[in-house]
Amino acid sequence: MQTHDLVQKDSFGEKIFEQKIDNEIKIEPKDWMPEAYRKTNIRQVSQHAHSEIVGMLPEGAWISRAPSLKRKAILIAKVQDEAGHGLYLYSACETLGITREETINDLHSGKAKYSSIFNYPTKTWADIGAIGWLVDGAAIMNQVMLTRTSYGPYARAMVRICKEESFHQRQGFEILLMLSKGTDEQKAMCQDAIDRWWWPSLMMFGPHDSESTNSEQSMKWKIKRKTNDELRQNFVDMCAEQVKVLGMKIPDDKLKWNEQRMHYDFGEINWDEFWNVVKGNGPCNKERLDARKKAWEEGEWVREAAAAFAEKRKTKQQTAA
Ligand SMILES: [Fe+2]
Ligand SMILES: [Fe+2]
Repeated sequence: MQTHDLVQKDSFGEKIFEQKIDNEIKIEPKDWMPEAYRKTNIRQVSQHAHSEIVGMLPEGAWISRAPSLKRKAILIAKVQDEAGHGLYLYSACETLGITREETINDLHSGKAKYSSIFNYPTKTWADIGAIGWLVDGAAIMNQVMLTRTSYGPYARAMVRICKEESFHQRQGFEILLMLSKGTDEQKAMCQDAIDRWWWPSLMMFGPHDSESTNSEQSMKWKIKRKTNDELRQNFVDMCAEQVKVLGMKIPDDKLKWNEQRMHYDFGEINWDEFWNVVKGNGPCNKERLDARKKAWEEGEWVREAAAAFAEKRKTKQQTAA
């Protein structure tokens, strides 16, 4: 095939790609896709996968300290779900032509990011409630939109993930609800956790649309369906109502219902803090990455054993044939 033919093939491929996007037909692994679309998806899906497994760490720290056997069982199930989410997403990422090792290496070298929210510490049991309600809540807001993302394997992984995320959010809210009906000390603990997790949760939606470099193209390719600011507003509207059930306060003096906009107004995020944590200077960035690297090193024998077993089975099948 000559270069000329290749160029023709690509422009043909691009036309089909665009038609599929316009007609809401999913892009599948073997379809032609623009290189930038592939790269954007690799960046987003891998970042999402990393967030799922790094997200296991702050909550995992409370498994041994959960206040009852029931709470311990629920928390183990939740943390295990997050590991499963990581697996679906790493697999979806591999369909884009990058190996598992490459994506993990990018996490360990700091080249790839994960959600900054997991660089904050979990100081009390109420933090487990606040994470479920606010962090999983913010994640759902984002992920429901992603069940309709244009890349097929990513969209299908998200359908399954969303079902589990709604359980996560409810279990978190229920922890806070119990504390909010408890002793003065428990009520204070509940409010303190909300105070510490509220603003980092709002940061999870990323920079303002005007500052977000990838947003516009991602909307055109239907990787994203709503902008950062739209999703953040939906989240604020939802939480401002739910917090009333808890009888707690959202730590924002500017939070107020706006009749004209039919949305809640709210205060400005501390963007210096946001960028500082993104750049690796949050309270737990180093601790989280060290824990992931350690887990990868300690799991080496498992990977080797799995590969040796697969090889053994292949030889056995070949001999039998
Ligand atoms: Fe998850
Ligand atoms: Fe979750």
